[in-house]
Amino acid sequence: MKQANLISALSDRELADIDKEIAHAPYRCAVAIDALKIVQQYRGWVSDESLRALANYLEMSAEELEGIATFYNLIFRKPVGEKVILVCDSVSCWIKDSDKITRQIAEKLGIGLGETTPDGQYTLLPVTCLGACDCAPVLMVGEKLHKNLDGDKIDKLFSAGDSAVVKLGEEP
Ligand code: FES
Repeated sequence: MKQANLISALSDRELADIDKEIAHAPYRCAVAIDALKIVQQYRGWVSDESLRALANYLEMSAEELEGIATFYNLIFRKPVGEKVILVCDSVSCWIKDSDKITRQIAEKLGIGLGETTPDGQYTLLPVTCLGACDCAPVLMVGEKLHKNLDGDKIDKLFSAGDSAVVKLGEEP
């Protein structure tokens, strides 16, 4: 694929936002994580095609960018639901029963870890430490961190009658 075709796989808005980041960076590939986040912000996830185009635009190899994308666990390399529920499964949360919380959510949504509800609304994913160990167990949806979770709080976050999450993104 020619360079022009690769770049055209990114939208004008994505390129404009990425260019803003590049303007403040010592070299193009220094903005790799921010650029991946920009693509994800517009598309919900980063496809192979987007990743190749982005690598080309940042003057790095697709393999280098893939390494960054897969190391940084908030970059999604597969399609996800409208809301991604990230449940911390690192040690502080684990000793405070995060596995129980995860099971409770999975049951309410009718999906397992790593799966998306059939209506495309929610994806449930494990994540490493979210940096809020003193408030364990925690989960994050979008920018919102839900802290000190227990069974009752999970019940309040989810509606009782169906699998729809009613208050995710708000304080329980
Ligand atoms: S271990 Fe869960 S926030 Fe740190």
